[in-house]
Amino acid sequence: PELAEKFIEEQIDLVRKQVGDKKVLLALSGGVDSSVVAALLIKAIGKQLVCVHVNHGLMRKGESEQVIEMFQNQLEANLIYIDATDRFLDLLDGVADPETKRKIIGGEFVKVFEEETDKLEGISFLAQGTIYPDILESKGVKAHHNVGGLPEDFKFEGLVEPVKLLYKDEVRVVGKVLGLPSNMVDRQPFPGPGLGVRCLGAITRDRLHALREADAILREEFDKAGLTDKVWQFFTVIPDFTSTGVKDGKRLDFWPVIIRAVNTVDAMHCTVPEIDYKVLKHITDRILNEVDGVCRVLYDLSPKPIATIEWE
Ligand code: XMP
Repeated sequence: PELAEKFIEEQIDLVRKQVGDKKVLLALSGGVDSSVVAALLIKAIGKQLVCVHVNHGLMRKGESEQVIEMFQNQLEANLIYIDATDRFLDLLDGVADPETKRKIIGGEFVKVFEEETDKLEGISFLAQGTIYPDILESKGVKAHHNVGGLPEDFKFEGLVEPVKLLYKDEVRVVGKVLGLPSNMVDRQPFPGPGLGVRCLGAITRDRLHALREADAILREEFDKAGLTDKVWQFFTVIPDFTSTGVKDGKRLDFWPVIIRAVNTVDAMHCTVPEIDYKVLKHITDRILNEVDGVCRVLYDLSPKPIATIEWE
């Protein structure tokens, strides 16, 4: 915490020096990283910060509403909400390659922000919740949207990335020291491309809907079982193939849903928690009963490495 306090003071100083009295735009996804950056920047530059929450249609159930409640209503931040669902889903229509999906989502984010700065006069800087593992991983296999590089026509004076040298657990400590509530700071990471990389292959609205409903059930039941604080990251995945199911005596094609849960300190090496069979069974029953089009629920037992946390 003392180191975090020192870090915060230094960053506040650096940010104030960098931006002066100019305005800064922040992509506020509601994840830990962007939330902590928002809190840090609110402290450093107050109303010079303009938070923009883009609902790309790939958020978890209820997530955008929570962002608005937390930042607009409780923290009284300068927040603009944009529902760009159709725009993102139309662009992604038929796109199956994971890295292409990531690039499209990341690129569209930049565009949405450019449009916002056109409307909002005098925005000079773009803030991002880039953290150190994003930078490391972008040098490896995956193109994280946070580290996509600046487009050639990037029209801001510069980037503000106050937590880019921190690991996730350090970001959480900084958030706590900044006074953010635990339900914001201890929230599990959620990838920038959101459900887009969990709706495998080419995203369709019906599979995306099933995925979101199944994910909401998983989160609700993990919460009830006291697992939310014990498991580092958990979510559902929906493949782009069907499997045979049977309903009212008829054989039909339905989707499988995969439950992914991992524990880790660094996001580089993960183990899979031993979830109580009864909990898994109950989640399975609920998904099969409540989510249309799903006939199987599977639990992924694969560690990282060799499997990554996300399925694509
Ligand atoms: P993997 O799947 O590489 O994930 O083991 C490691 C962590 O990174 C998250 N992740 C992403 N985060 N943009 C992000 O902002 C992405 O494209 C992305 N892909 C994976 C993942 O959820 C996990 O926490």
